[in-house]
Amino acid sequence: MPKQAKNPKDTYTIMTELVLPNDTNPLNNLMGGRLMHWMDIVSAIAAQKHCNRIVVTASVDNISFQHPIALGDVVTLEAKVTRAFSSSVEVHIVVKGENIPSGKKYPSNSAFFTFVAVDQSGRPIDVPELIPETEEEQELFDGALRRRQLRLVLGKRMKPEEATELKSIFKLDE
Ligand SMILES: CC(C)(COP(=O)(O)OP(=O)(O)OC[C@H]1O[C@@H](n2cnc3c(N)ncnc32)[C@H](O)[C@@H]1OP(=O)(O)O)[C@@H](O)C(=O)NCCC(=O)NCCS
Repeated sequence: MPKQAKNPKDTYTIMTELVLPNDTNPLNNLMGGRLMHWMDIVSAIAAQKHCNRIVVTASVDNISFQHPIALGDVVTLEAKVTRAFSSSVEVHIVVKGENIPSGKKYPSNSAFFTFVAVDQSGRPIDVPELIPETEEEQELFDGALRRRQLRLVLGKRMKPEEATELKSIFKLDE
């Protein structure tokens, strides 16, 4: 039976955390590793909402930290699936910080994680289609193919000459 298609909004997941002393580095800012742990959790939940299956993290694209998040600030992580392939899904995560006493909100970082839906033995299984609805979702959906090819080439799972979407960027045909 074909699995029912879903929309990105069906996968929307929000997680809120308070930065406590045990989450910080010696500068009293949130440690990168703790933030990546939270990003992994929020994006895994979004991926599970799409797949209704166990999912495993297959890869994490580059993460750069734009703005430190201070002790006592609130961290909001929002995740949505951008595109589904055969057994894998790409998830976009946006992280923001907030200092509630001053009312200041600031962007921290964003990233793309890839999850693979697996059966009880850990073998990849097919996932439902994802249909974007908004203009922003369509843009993320369109760009997902290019990002997938880039990460598969970097992971040595695809030959550069097979990466059709990347050819125009790197002008490989000229
Ligand atoms: C991810 C995993 C299930 C893939 O299994 P595999 O036998 O290599 O499967 P395949 O080669 O058939 O690929 C299955 C899917 O994974 C995707 N994939 C595999 N490695 C990937 C990578 N490094 N980056 C992105 N996608 C990847 C493939 O593109 C494919 O997607 P598709 O079906 O949508 O086209 C397997 O490598 C695994 O279990 N890895 C460990 C996961 C884990 O423990 N994560 C926690 C971090 S410690």
